[in-house]
Amino acid sequence: MPSEKKSQPRLNQLGAYPFERLKKLFEGHTPNPLFPHIDAGAGEPRLPLPDFAIKTLNQNLDGFSKYPSTRGSDVLREAIAAWLMRRFNLKHVDAHTQVLSANGTREALFTVAHALVNPEANCDNGKKPYVLMPNPMYQIYLGAAVTAGATPYLMPCTKENAFAPELDAIPDEVWENTSIIYVCSPSNPTGWIADVDYYARLLELADRHDFYVLADECYSEIYLEKPPPGLLEVAESLGRKGFSRCLVFNSLSKRSALPGLRSGLIAGDAELIQRFSKLRSYSGPATPIPLQMVAAAAWSDEKHVQQHLEVYRQSLVAFFDAYDQSRPPAGSFFVWLPVDDEEAFAIAAYEQQAVTVLPGSYLGIVDQKGHNAGSGYIRGALVDGPEKAAELALRLKAVRV
Ligand SMILES: Cc1ncc(COP(=O)(O)O)c(C=O)c1O
Repeated sequence: MPSEKKSQPRLNQLGAYPFERLKKLFEGHTPNPLFPHIDAGAGEPRLPLPDFAIKTLNQNLDGFSKYPSTRGSDVLREAIAAWLMRRFNLKHVDAHTQVLSANGTREALFTVAHALVNPEANCDNGKKPYVLMPNPMYQIYLGAAVTAGATPYLMPCTKENAFAPELDAIPDEVWENTSIIYVCSPSNPTGWIADVDYYARLLELADRHDFYVLADECYSEIYLEKPPPGLLEVAESLGRKGFSRCLVFNSLSKRSALPGLRSGLIAGDAELIQRFSKLRSYSGPATPIPLQMVAAAAWSDEKHVQQHLEVYRQSLVAFFDAYDQSRPPAGSFFVWLPVDDEEAFAIAAYEQQAVTVLPGSYLGIVDQKGHNAGSGYIRGALVDGPEKAAELALRLKAVRV
């Protein structure tokens, strides 16, 4: 073991990852053997492989004998640019300067803070620059902020604010010292969606206070009613040149149900892309060439995405018909349900009903005011189709703590 003096102290600020905590929570507990287990813990889509995936992979196997480019092949970046233009009605996205391939968006959302935050800077208050993020959140934002040497600033998303990270609740002093903000829309875990006005207001603040907006739109193709707006679309409609200050992240893991492909996109402001690309040329998160070819095919096909969307919609409706206590989320495939004690509920659900759900507090942390906005909730992922979603609802309703 390296001595404390010689190892990275920032890591000590981070707790165990939510699924490690869940594993520990379940130690010594067993699922009810009378029921088949339903794993609604992880947001891992479990739909069949799209049929073009195997064909494209087989046609490109020779690519395994070459080093892949970290930026992504021309074929992939062009497919991504074309998808962004189609989906968000954009006039032009430049595949060469405004797009990068990601080896899954998780790594990109993490590394981006290391490219954009200045850990040497001391802000007016003597603190390190702020990285703003929702609370609860996809935990990668927190890991990124902490290891990049920033000060995480939490934006509580609660029932009272309809789960929106409130922009007008942030003091000017915080905005002035903000380096980047992560927005997750549709949100994991709450299902909240940023509307056009929200993104527009955020861009106004970004100009006024000089920070960057990072939009994690990995669930953009999973929604109940209408397709959620994208940050780039709003930036263009406001006449911003070259998506200035904006980066978006999207993934094939959710829309195409290809989490094992490890492929996503980064797109936006060419200067930020260039800076990020420089860091990535050292860290090297490249996706193998045959998999990049599958990714290009996946961004070019909407048929399978529509089929998946239908399954997710039916699952949300089936769950809430059976659960009948609250309303489905606007987007994502998660249900975010209020309970009294989330850890006690998760254990009871596991033991009584053979169901795995995640305590909401594991997706948040204690904020500046001493509150963890994930407490008092559990998250369930509807990733097994409508029948299992309805079954999950009935089993959760039957849990007694
Ligand atoms: C909000 C959010 N962003 C990003 C990701 C990362 O997805 P991937 O790395 O598979 O692209 C996930 C995965 O669960 C997520 O929930």
